[in-house]
Amino acid sequence: MNTKILSVTGKETELIVKVCEYVEILYWGCIINTKSEGAEYSLSRPIPYGRLDTDIPMTLHPELGRGLFSSPALEGHRNGKGWAPVFQTTNVKQGRKELTIYSEDKAAGLQLVTELRLDEFDVIKLRHKLINTADGIYSVNRLANTLPLPERANELLTYYGRWVNEFQQTRMRLTQGGYQQENRRGRTSHEHYPALIAGTQYFNETHGDVWGFHLAWSGNHRMRVDVKADGRRFMQAEAIYLPGEVALEKGDSIATPWLYATHSECGLNKMSQHFHQHVRSNILNNRLTKKARPIHLNTWEGIYFDHNPEYIMDMATESAKMGVERFIIDDGWFKGRCGDKAGLGDWYLDKSKYTKGLEGVIEHVNALGMEFGLWFEPEMINKDSDLYRSHPDWLLAMDNYEQPTGRNQYAIDLQNEDAFNYLFERLDYFLSKYNISYIKWDMNREIVQPGHDGYAAGHKQVEMYYRLVDKLTAKHPDVEIESCAAGGGRIDFEVLKRTHRFWASDNNDALERQQIQRGMSYFFPPEVMGSHIGAKHCHCTRRTHDINFRGLTALFGHMGIELDPVKESETEKQGFMKYIQLHKQLRPLLHSGDAIRLSTDDDAHLAHAVIATAQDKAVVLVAQLSMPTNSLSSTLRIPGLNKDKLYSISLLDYPENFHDIVNLQPLWTKEPVVASGEWLKKAGIAMPILDPESAILIGLKEA
Ligand code: GLA
Repeated sequence: MNTKILSVTGKETELIVKVCEYVEILYWGCIINTKSEGAEYSLSRPIPYGRLDTDIPMTLHPELGRGLFSSPALEGHRNGKGWAPVFQTTNVKQGRKELTIYSEDKAAGLQLVTELRLDEFDVIKLRHKLINTADGIYSVNRLANTLPLPERANELLTYYGRWVNEFQQTRMRLTQGGYQQENRRGRTSHEHYPALIAGTQYFNETHGDVWGFHLAWSGNHRMRVDVKADGRRFMQAEAIYLPGEVALEKGDSIATPWLYATHSECGLNKMSQHFHQHVRSNILNNRLTKKARPIHLNTWEGIYFDHNPEYIMDMATESAKMGVERFIIDDGWFKGRCGDKAGLGDWYLDKSKYTKGLEGVIEHVNALGMEFGLWFEPEMINKDSDLYRSHPDWLLAMDNYEQPTGRNQYAIDLQNEDAFNYLFERLDYFLSKYNISYIKWDMNREIVQPGHDGYAAGHKQVEMYYRLVDKLTAKHPDVEIESCAAGGGRIDFEVLKRTHRFWASDNNDALERQQIQRGMSYFFPPEVMGSHIGAKHCHCTRRTHDINFRGLTALFGHMGIELDPVKESETEKQGFMKYIQLHKQLRPLLHSGDAIRLSTDDDAHLAHAVIATAQDKAVVLVAQLSMPTNSLSSTLRIPGLNKDKLYSISLLDYPENFHDIVNLQPLWTKEPVVASGEWLKKAGIAMPILDPESAILIGLKEA
C-alpha cells in the first residue's frame, strides 16, 4: 500500500496519521494550519546503534513481529500457531472526522478493522475489531487499544478508591517504566475507575498539555502507560479476557471497548469541557435536555428495609411539600426482603408489607405531582430466595467451588437464556403494569469466578448486562435508569449510553462528597451525578453537618434528598425547601453551562463553578474543607468568563454564622461590586473567612 499522510481534524485538535502497511499517529495536538508538502519528514527518526537496524514505528496496533518491543495490541493463537501476527493495511476509508482502516494477516488468518473518530468536541473514539478468517478456533488472550503520547507527557493523574470513597486522585511522575492498573472485580469498580490523564509536568486546571483517556467498559480492564526504553511512550487500554473466554470460530469477531481520549493545551478544565460536551451531545444524545432533572426523594437512608406503605405515603406527602419531583422506593419492597440476607431474585411485590398492592402508593405519589421510581438489583440472587431454591443452577459460578459471597449474595449467569428471560419478564412486568418512570439499577457485589457451563464468562456477562438494559429500554424508552453499584462502582461511558444518572457514592457526608464529586467532574458533567442531601447526622461517617454545607454540596448535580422527611424537624425541612428552590432556580444554568474547577491557593478550600455558555452569568461554590491555613484566605481567581463583560458579584448563600465569626467579611459580600471577566480571571476576589465544613455560593451576573 502506498504511504498516505492523512489528517483528521476536530474543532481545535488534529491527528496526523501515516498509513502505509501499518498505521502510525505522527501527531496529536492543536491543529497545525500551515503544512508544507512533505513536512512529515521533519519527524523522521534517527536509527541508533545497538538496536534493530531499521526504524520501528510506534503503531496504532503494536506488534512484536514488527519489532516493537512493547506490550502488544493482540495476543492470541490458533492451537499454538498464528501467535505473532503482523497486519498489513489493505484499505482505508476516510471521512472528514473519521478513519476506518482495514488490515489483515493472511498467514495467521486474521483481519483487523480499526475505527478512529474525532468529534466536533475534539474527543477521539478508537476501537479495533478482530475477525477470524481461517478454519479452526483463534483464541484471543488480549486485544488492546493503543494511543501514542509525546515525550513531554511526563506526569500522570490516576484514580483510586473504594466503597464510600470513590474517585480519589493521585499524581506520579512518568519517567522510566510506567503505570498499570488492572481491574478484576467484574464491574467498573470503585477501586480502578477506567480513566487516567497524562500531561506535561505540573499540569493543572488551567495550564499544561494534557491527554485524558476513558475506557468505556463496565467489567475487567487493564490500563497502562508505558515509557519505552527509547523514551517514546504510549497509553494502552483493554478489557481483560479470562482464560479461554474469547475463542473465535471462523467468521467470528471480537471488538475492544471504545477508548475515548482528548487533548487540551491548557489544562484539565478544557479537557473536561471536551468530555462534558461529548457526553452531553454524543453519549446522552441530548436525552437529558428534554426535561429538567427531577429532584429526588430516595427512601433508602430514611427507612432502609422497614417498609410500611401508609408511612411511605406520608413520606411522599412531606416530600411533595418540600418541592420534590420524583419519589423513589429503594430496596426492601419485594418478596422476602427484610434485610440484606434474603430475597434478591424474587422480583414480586412483598404482599406481607404491601397488603393493598403498589398501585395505591404510586397513585398517591403521582397525585402529588411526582414521578415514581423503584429499586432493582436484577443481576443478583440470594441463596435464601425462591428463585435460588428453584434454579440453583442459574448462579454465575463454577461447579465444585464455593465462591465467597458479597453482601450475602451471588450473581446470576446472564448467558443462561432462561435466567435472562426471567429477569426481563420481571422488569418488564413492573414497568408495564405500573406507572414507573425511573428505576435505580443496582449491583452490589464484585464478581468472583464468573463461570458459565464451566467456561469463563466475565466479558460476556458484561455484554449480557448491556443487552438486558437495552432490551428493557427498547420496550420502555421513556423510563429513566440510574446506574448504581454500591454507590459509584459502575460509572463509565458505556453504561451512560443506556442510563441517565449515576449514584456517585453511598457516602452522603458533604465533606467527603466534595472530593468524590470533584474526582467525578473530570469526565462527567454535573447533571448525571446523583447528589443527595442526607440527614444532619451522616449515616456513613457519623459526622454532623448543617444544612448550608449539605445543601450547597448537593446543589450542582442531579439533586435529591435521602432521609425520612416525616421525622425531620420543621427547621430542617425549611432548609431542604430552601436548597430545593435554589436548585430549581439555578438548574437550567447548572445543567447546561461549562462546569469548571477553580484552583485555590489554600488546600483547605475547594472551589468550582458553572459558567453559562453565553457567559452572561455564573455561579461559584467555595467549600471550606478544613481550618484555613492562614488568618486571611487569599484571593479567588475565576477564569472562563468573557474578559470584556462586566459582572456584578453577589453572595447567594452562606452559613448562618457567616458575619459573626470575624470582625468584617470582604466588602463584596455586603455591597454590590462590579468587575470585568478579565479582572476576575487575573485579580480575582478576596475570599471570606469560613469555618471548616461550610460553604458559600457566589453569583456573577452580567451588569
Ligand atoms: C446499595 C446502594 C444504596 C442502596 C442499597 C440498597 O448499597 O448503593 O444506595 O440502594 O444498595 O440495598
